[in-house]
Amino acid sequence: MDSGISTPKKSKGSNSTNSASSEETTIYMRTQWNKDDSVGIVFSLPDIECELPIVLEIFKSHQVKLHHIESRPSKQSSSDFEFFVSCDNKTGGLKESLEAVKGIAKNFRLISPSEDTVPWFPKTLSELDRSANKIIRDGSKLDSDHPDSAHTSDGFANPVYRARRKEMADIALSYKHGQTIPRVQYTEEEIGTWRTIFHELTKLYPTHACKQFNHVFPLLQDKCGYNADNIPQLEDVSQFLQDCTGFRLRPVAGLLSSRAFLSGLAFRVFHATQYIRHSSKPMFTPEPDVCHELLGHVPLFADPTFAQFSQEIGLASLGAPDEYIKKLIRCYWFTVEVGLCRQGQDLKVYGPGLLSSFGELQHCLTDAAEKKTFDPDVTCDQRIQTKSYQPLYFVADSFEAVTEMMREYAKTIPRPFSVRYNPYTKSVEVIENKSQILKLTHAIKEAAAVAQWVRTFAHQAAGWVLES
Ligand SMILES: [Fe+2]
Repeated sequence: MDSGISTPKKSKGSNSTNSASSEETTIYMRTQWNKDDSVGIVFSLPDIECELPIVLEIFKSHQVKLHHIESRPSKQSSSDFEFFVSCDNKTGGLKESLEAVKGIAKNFRLISPSEDTVPWFPKTLSELDRSANKIIRDGSKLDSDHPDSAHTSDGFANPVYRARRKEMADIALSYKHGQTIPRVQYTEEEIGTWRTIFHELTKLYPTHACKQFNHVFPLLQDKCGYNADNIPQLEDVSQFLQDCTGFRLRPVAGLLSSRAFLSGLAFRVFHATQYIRHSSKPMFTPEPDVCHELLGHVPLFADPTFAQFSQEIGLASLGAPDEYIKKLIRCYWFTVEVGLCRQGQDLKVYGPGLLSSFGELQHCLTDAAEKKTFDPDVTCDQRIQTKSYQPLYFVADSFEAVTEMMREYAKTIPRPFSVRYNPYTKSVEVIENKSQILKLTHAIKEAAAVAQWVRTFAHQAAGWVLES
């Protein structure tokens, strides 16, 4: 894929605790199909044998050259076939031919009306440096429009607190991939705030949190200094997560754009704030802070299945159109932020927005809170509530089940390519032509051979144990 940068565009999205997109800028890049002289279209045909010749005849009769055509079974209807066609736009009657194709095809989409087609996305860990500072709301600049500042004169309006927030924001804004996350010397007042939250929440975890959370939490106490009198350091926690699942933390100055935040998850990077909420309101924060990140998010990122699920959402976001970023952030919100899960006969909490909120953690499991089974096709259109408890929660049958659901949902996102995360190079590979597909097929075959070898070895090893 060409990485040529073109004109920035404005887009809108929805808010989330760690990301926001109220007003974010999207940068677009060319795809290899998207040369200056071509236009890409995607459409579905229910009757391929009958209708494809008609479509081809339309282009022929309008003297439109086709640079490329490919097909696949439609993800939206099992009886349909979906086509991607790259058309020459310098010769023939392209406009007329597209109007004619629209008349017989389903789900017609013009995907490359100009070179500004695919939103830029990082392909390596270090390229996250380019998007990690796309802050929507910077804590150091919180002003009278901040939801909390109207209610407290000694909170965000306090110049001492604001200066402290700027100190933390500056750490994040100057951070580059590969650097050690600077350690913060938290004040007694800040530790006091943490202590209050820690005491209240840890009383509820054994009964309210999911088993994966309760499995990891003691490890964090043992390895990373999680206790009432200490705010753990992002660097220590990041090292712990990397050892568990390859996830890592990256400091962020404030509320990040949805696209930038989700792209981090694709690389198993979680953008985490380092500042703490104001001491006047220890049990409430309208935005992410270090308590939300460390107590809410971190434990689940140490679980391999949850880590995989989080990465799937991130991979789905790479190069996705703006409207799908909005849908993905809602799927993210109702799982990774405020998700519930079924464990045996019980409902348990795995969403960090709940696990770091004393009041909502109790509320969400009561009958007063409406619940629905997670379904990305439904969840992607559910409005997010950020200023009060959620009126509705989505329940996952298991992390494995929602991971598979997100994989299937990702296939419906209109992108003229697929992406694959390479865990060896920690980079994203863009799959957009035949040779890359063949290369990927070869890699999958090799992986399958290794898996077969492991199964055989394990079987023999079990035999040795039985014989001994
Ligand atoms: Fe969050």
